[in-house]
Amino acid sequence: MRTPLFSILLVFMLSIIAAFPITSTAQTHTVTSPENVLSVTFGLNDGVPFYSVDRFGVPVISPSRLGFQLQGTAPLDRNFRIAAHHTETFDETWTQVWGEKKHIRNHYNELRVELQEAEGARREMSVVFRVYDDGIGFRYEIPEQENLPVIDILDELTEFTLTGNHTAWWVGAYQWNRFEYYPQETPLSAVDTVHTPLTMKTADDLYLSFHEAALVDYSTMTLERTEGYTLKANLMPWADGVRVKGGTSVITPWRTIQISDTPGGLFTSYLILNLNEPNKIEDTSWIKPSKYVGIWWEMHLDKSTWGSGEKHGATTENAKRYIDFAAEHGFDHVLVEGWNTGWDGEWYASGVVFSFTEPYEDFDLEGVAQYALDNGVRLMGHHETSASVLHYEDQMEDAFALYERLGVRAVKSGYVGHGQEIFWLDDDGEPQYEWHHGQFMVNHHQRVVELAARHKIALNVHEGVKDTGLRRTWPNLMTREVAIGQEYNAWGEAGGNPPEYTVQLPFTRSLAGPFDYTPGVVDLHFDQYRPDNRIKSTLAKELALYITIYSPLHMAADLPEHYEARPDALEFIKMVPTDWYDTKVLHASIGNYVTIVRKDVNSDDWYLGSITDENGRFLEAPLHFLDRDREYNAIIYRDGHDADWESNPYDMVIEEITVNANTILPIRLAAGGGQVIRFTPVP
Ligand code: NOJ
Repeated sequence: MRTPLFSILLVFMLSIIAAFPITSTAQTHTVTSPENVLSVTFGLNDGVPFYSVDRFGVPVISPSRLGFQLQGTAPLDRNFRIAAHHTETFDETWTQVWGEKKHIRNHYNELRVELQEAEGARREMSVVFRVYDDGIGFRYEIPEQENLPVIDILDELTEFTLTGNHTAWWVGAYQWNRFEYYPQETPLSAVDTVHTPLTMKTADDLYLSFHEAALVDYSTMTLERTEGYTLKANLMPWADGVRVKGGTSVITPWRTIQISDTPGGLFTSYLILNLNEPNKIEDTSWIKPSKYVGIWWEMHLDKSTWGSGEKHGATTENAKRYIDFAAEHGFDHVLVEGWNTGWDGEWYASGVVFSFTEPYEDFDLEGVAQYALDNGVRLMGHHETSASVLHYEDQMEDAFALYERLGVRAVKSGYVGHGQEIFWLDDDGEPQYEWHHGQFMVNHHQRVVELAARHKIALNVHEGVKDTGLRRTWPNLMTREVAIGQEYNAWGEAGGNPPEYTVQLPFTRSLAGPFDYTPGVVDLHFDQYRPDNRIKSTLAKELALYITIYSPLHMAADLPEHYEARPDALEFIKMVPTDWYDTKVLHASIGNYVTIVRKDVNSDDWYLGSITDENGRFLEAPLHFLDRDREYNAIIYRDGHDADWESNPYDMVIEEITVNANTILPIRLAAGGGQVIRFTPVP
């Protein structure tokens, strides 16, 4: 629905801000959000474009610069006049193919400002702002024009000037291990150059998340603190230093700022998805949220190997064992890693090593795929590229065609390799080093998702580019890792992920989108294989990760024999859905504790997941999300009286009680503990 926007104000203002002094001749336009929560002001200050953001009239982003440095021509950042401006209101509710909420309202006011250089080449550029009640997005559009025949961006000058030394949660950019670091919590003044989502908390308890939406044919934006409390876009460059090769026109991703007075408000903001294009896949019936098991954890434990030989994990016999287990317990896919030739030797050194169609001799690919189908299960394919991308591109058409023929509906891919790789040779045969997150790789991943869609295959991408909500447009791009996952519990130098990590995740990595963390390891000590490592949580907390971490493809990561030894935990993992009608946050304190409730999309059941860091605590959960006129049977999986992640992690009590919407449920979490509850209406 499009209606005229009345809330646009044309104002002239004088502002004295140290970071970006505004002159008395500044011309500004202000647009407010539908419920007048947020407002964005765009202006020209002596021809230099800037914007600012207020929440209920209080500055959140002080006046901050906009513009570009271009290769071979003058910068596009000054000397502008406003040629035109347009406003509109948009309000629509759309339906997700799968997700953490079925129906999403996309309600914003938009301001489009068309700029033209006042003299000289008279080049043009537009800036578009969409202002929601829970945040803002803006992007640049540089149209095709005579006086700008080629657009090669040397620098995007977008700034975000904060109003104080906020607390920030961040992962550093330009590091060899890509996104795989634990989030740091520091004052903003200690931030250097960081990935997004970048989360902040102000002294007044306002929560902010900086990220981007719809990253297509552009470089990943990192944020660099340039001075004081000012962050500037820092785009990951190509090997030759150009940051974006734009061709003849450019539409940038949306630069996003989500703003809420609670951390839970960030978690349930769908702004990133709203700023992506609608679904482009006509028939989505083959895209199914589901759970999978696989030949995976045993390699990380070093019980078996990816490479061939006596310890080879991906044998026909072992795969059939997992398929039998999946069929018996209702898991939809069986992932088999190490099935294809190329794993022997240093596969992770970005070599040209893998075949994506040739199985090892002891793995009967066709036979195993058929055995799976005969048992109502499907193989989940695996493409580890070791970041040798062009080698993969040479084979990927055949690779996806093969999997489609074998009935495979989901492929996990991997791009293990250091942050900057040799991806291609230039015309002189010289190796060119590209970042995992530059435009080169963004475009590679786009080619893969479109190819996979043509073969009716969903993707689970590890070591890929961060999620920017493209799953709305390409719902076969189901999940990804792009952070420290469960595997670090097996071999990470920290001896296992610290208990606080999983309570940081909902407000850091997970704000980008679904995360293939691969929860569900129920054998928390694996001394037999890796005595220096363990899972630093209680059993109940490991179960709660199925609720606190969203992924439409969730793994049950442990070995069949470990599940057989813990049937109660397995029972919960079998029942927990991966597609939700709704999601709410009951408690949230970043890095300390979180309680999330989700309603199953296929029934009237609700699930609650609550987790804590290394500190035990009592919380109270008001069950007002339940239907008012019904009683519910609650099956509770909670930490036992003596549970403690360090000394007694398996102490878990399962009990059933009857509750209703008026119940206030006490939740006791052990140190490093958790709790899950399934609420089913009493018939
Ligand atoms: C790293 C991935 O995160 C992991 O899940 C996978 O097993 C290995 N690469 C091998 O592909």
